[in-house]
Amino acid sequence: MNILVTAGPTREPIDAVRFIGNRSSGKMGYAVATEALQSGNNVRLITGPVAIPAPVGAEVIHVETAAQMLAEVRSHLPWCDVLVMVAAVADWRPVNPPARKLKKEDGPPRIELERTEDILATIKPEKGGRIVVGFAAETHDVLNEAARKCERKGLDMIVANDVSSSDAGFEVDTNRVTFLFPDGSREPRPLMPKSAVAREIMARISALTRVAKR
Ligand code: CTP
Repeated sequence: MNILVTAGPTREPIDAVRFIGNRSSGKMGYAVATEALQSGNNVRLITGPVAIPAPVGAEVIHVETAAQMLAEVRSHLPWCDVLVMVAAVADWRPVNPPARKLKKEDGPPRIELERTEDILATIKPEKGGRIVVGFAAETHDVLNEAARKCERKGLDMIVANDVSSSDAGFEVDTNRVTFLFPDGSREPRPLMPKSAVAREIMARISALTRVAKR
């Protein structure tokens, strides 16, 4: 299968040298890409800036902003059978960032923000028969928020994780997730290494593709 994975944070420029980012390390997305390769798939990885090495064998596409990530997802979507959106895409960006560096003598800037594109919502009409999997990073009412996102973004599966806990979510090597499906079913999983979470994600994707082919 051809599997498209997004990973890492996006960066939204404030000026020539500053940006709004987030704490995503890329570890979960890179683990999914690695697992997809190890199970014999072709993998394209669209990644925001991270400090970890790219999985050997993946075609890697580097982006910075949410708009760039959307453009790359759109252009690679026709190629893929499965899209796994692990990236922590910024929800807001500064309006018209200056091309120069803001100087402190100018005083603290008032930064006006606007919404970025919601990548999953934008590609929903172009989904066709593809399997699309999302992540839900939540700090409260985790499962209900994730179920709402699964429905709103038209996903085949959403992987919910509570990013407020110190042993799961951003930056660390472990994760505690629940898989949610559009029929309302939920599968809570114990704390495990991100590599093991990635293996479980790929197993569920294989099961979903078998159902889709029937
Ligand atoms: N996502 C996306 N485009 C965005 C933001 C998020 O495609 N602009 C994707 C993420 O890659 C993830 C899923 O949507 O697979 C959920 O992301 P999350 O940040 O949890 O949710 P949001 O859509 O940002 O919603 P909220 O701000 O209400 O939590």
